[in-house]
Amino acid sequence: MGKVYIRTFGCQMNTYDSERIASIFNEMGFSYTENPEEADFAVINTCSVREKPQQKVKSEIGRLKRVNGIKIGVCGCVAQQEGEKFLDNFKDVSFVFGTDAIGRLYEIIDLVQKGQRVCDTSTNEGEISIPSFSRETSVSAFVTIMKGCDNFCSYCIVPYVRGREKSRKAEEIIREINYLVENGVREITLLGQNVNSYGKNLDENINFPKLLYMVNDIKEVKRIRFVTSHPKDFSDELIEAMIENEKVMPYLHLPLQAGSDNILKKMNRKYSYGEYLEKVAKAKERIPGLALSSDFIVGFPGETDADFEDTLRAIEEIEYETIFAFKYSPRPKTKAFNLEDNIPDDIKSSRLDALLKKQEKITRKLMKKYLGQICEVLVEGMSKKDDSIYSGRNPQNRIVNFKSNKNIKTGDLVSVKIMEAKKNSLFGLSV
Ligand code: SAH
Ligand code: SF4
Ligand code: F3S
Repeated sequence: MGKVYIRTFGCQMNTYDSERIASIFNEMGFSYTENPEEADFAVINTCSVREKPQQKVKSEIGRLKRVNGIKIGVCGCVAQQEGEKFLDNFKDVSFVFGTDAIGRLYEIIDLVQKGQRVCDTSTNEGEISIPSFSRETSVSAFVTIMKGCDNFCSYCIVPYVRGREKSRKAEEIIREINYLVENGVREITLLGQNVNSYGKNLDENINFPKLLYMVNDIKEVKRIRFVTSHPKDFSDELIEAMIENEKVMPYLHLPLQAGSDNILKKMNRKYSYGEYLEKVAKAKERIPGLALSSDFIVGFPGETDADFEDTLRAIEEIEYETIFAFKYSPRPKTKAFNLEDNIPDDIKSSRLDALLKKQEKITRKLMKKYLGQICEVLVEGMSKKDDSIYSGRNPQNRIVNFKSNKNIKTGDLVSVKIMEAKKNSLFGLSV
């Protein structure tokens, strides 16, 4: 039996896609290996959202090509973007397949085994179908509900590499979730570049809030999460659905990107800071214990000190539990690519540092709020560092390590009293 090694970069959707790719290789008689040295096939699932992850692809090819007889494939967002060019520029790459081509991987593998070099980056439109596939499951699993993006934020390459928005039929999503819960999964994270657009291009009368009700009805599902929502589409209907469906966790990733209206406009985000704040205030008021998180870009073309101050002020005002922040990186094809990337790298770096430092303080303050509280923890297993300590997550998605004398199994929901707040995790005792 042959072996396949898969290296994954980028977002959760790539993780999900890699699980699907592994399952297709498995159906074709390959087993998975963590060790590229013993692999017959290697697949690099790539990300092109910033220049850095894109560069990693080259070094990964360089590393893998030293393995004797290995067939190297490249997929994901860089593959979608470069297509045939990959085969021309890298003679060690045997096959390239795009973000919509995973369903055709059977034929691709077949051709590569016959000695051909293959490139398939054709795209699907409208509706997508992802047949159920078997995978290694743990307590928590990702399920893609829609792909692609029609928003065209001026800095972002995703609409060019993931194509237009396309949704999966609700029936197919529910079937996949049923399969997962039969195999022990208790927490489902619904994935999409913009989950709020779910259903727009389907014939059925469905949207994202309605889908949440359907998933909430599946008995064995204990928790539901989702990423990502675009603030402009974050609706009252979604807030209601988050309140009414008790399994939907009080955690919301709502990327603001920048605190200055001037920059938001140039980014083509289609909301002002004031509009964003209003939505967040409403969500906080209506959803008890809501934890917020966000993405930020620093050093967008033309970002002044005053613009950046607005971002600092915003994180203070909103109090996110977590933020993800990045230095602006010009991407080909995007609108902003035509603007001069005029913020020097050392200023980008110092802004990034200042933002993350400020956030550390906010996180520390918010973590202290959990002290003494009793929260429900979904158990993921034993702590990696100490096998007498259980590990799981609270509703707000924080890691909680805890001790207990009870007989606890992975996948249980356990009430834990929080005794200690560390930098990024909590410690407690089961009650
Ligand atoms: N679909 C998601 C985001 C996908 S990309 C959404 O709309 O929220 C993840 C994050 O990468 C973005 O939120 C943004 O903060 C960052 N990002 C995207 N393009 C970037 C670029 N050109 N330079 C720096 N960061 C970027
Ligand atoms: Fe990119 Fe904007 Fe679409 Fe998110 S909403 S994927 S940032 S274009
Ligand atoms: Fe990267 Fe593609 Fe995801 S560009 S962030 S892997 S959609």
